[in-house]
Amino acid sequence: MQKVMITGATGLLGRTLYKTLKHEFAVVGTGFSRATAPILPLDLADQQAVITFLELHKPTVLIHAAAERKPDVCENSPQQTIALNVAASEFLAKECAKRNIRLLFISTDYVFDGQDAPYYESATPNPLNLYGQTKQQAEQAVLNASPLHTIIRVPVLYGDVTSLNESAVTVIATQLKQDDQTSHDNWAIRYPTHVEDIAFTLRDLLIQPEALGGIFHISDSQAMTKFDMACVMADILGYPSELLTPQGKPTQTAARPYNCALADSRLKPLGIAYSRDFKAAVGDIINGATNK
Ligand SMILES: NC(=O)c1ccc[n+]([C@@H]2O[C@H](COP(=O)([O-])OP(=O)(O)OC[C@H]3O[C@@H](n4cnc5c(N)ncnc54)[C@H](OP(=O)(O)O)[C@@H]3O)[C@@H](O)[C@H]2O)c1
Repeated sequence: MQKVMITGATGLLGRTLYKTLKHEFAVVGTGFSRATAPILPLDLADQQAVITFLELHKPTVLIHAAAERKPDVCENSPQQTIALNVAASEFLAKECAKRNIRLLFISTDYVFDGQDAPYYESATPNPLNLYGQTKQQAEQAVLNASPLHTIIRVPVLYGDVTSLNESAVTVIATQLKQDDQTSHDNWAIRYPTHVEDIAFTLRDLLIQPEALGGIFHISDSQAMTKFDMACVMADILGYPSELLTPQGKPTQTAARPYNCALADSRLKPLGIAYSRDFKAAVGDIINGATNK
């Protein structure tokens, strides 16, 4: 049986990866500041601790989901971001290669500049902000470390949250609850993708490991601006969407790409295609979080 180690198992994606994959594989999850049993603490900046962990748990696969993924935090803390997103990823990739452990590195659509969508797996990255640059550098280091390793690029994620603020999608519901007359970006086009669909896709890939290696794109297909998402969430919450204002220009600190649609040429031939209705799925999350 494969033994799958998951870094970032206390995070938005990692929690659902852990919950989903444990039904099929032996799974060991690691976190950092939020790690509580059964998730084990592991500081990825501590190289000796990483080696000791790999030697002790002997995973056959490592899904590396830990990262600093908020673009504005990355710009404000470049050293910590480079240490976690690049240096720790490169070290993990090399240590996994030495032990024949397959590394699946979770990357992002932000490696692209958003000017020439859709992007296939072979498209040339050109990140606009430090977050995207660190993920692109890590991708390169991971691919250089071993032909066994795989890059998994995903777009903006949503799913079960510890609070609605945790995801860049459901944070919009918090904004609406505080003020029903808010403004939202109507410029950048995004493809919100449910973390469970990422987990199902990785589960199916791990069942046929000969298909792994190189770069995969996983994305849902509904094109939406944050303003579109806000209108859907206003409807769910019972607020009039006519009170919302569409913003034509991005206002965040870190530059954002316009449209990074991730095109897939590898999953569909393998019979892997997960998708879900955004309104129904985000409604379940908002109502679940409200009832907690
Ligand atoms: N969320 C998105 O919309 C999105 C979009 C595209 C790509 N991605 C990529 O998907 C992956 C997962 O993202 P996410 O949204 O699940 O991230 P997240 O919720 O912010 O979680 C980050 C994880 O990294 C861990 N971590 C932070 N510093 C660490 C350290 N020094 N050592 C070990 N672990 C550390 C955190 O542990 P603690 O919380 O326990 O400290 C947490 O488990 C990332 O690679 C991200 O770049 C995410």
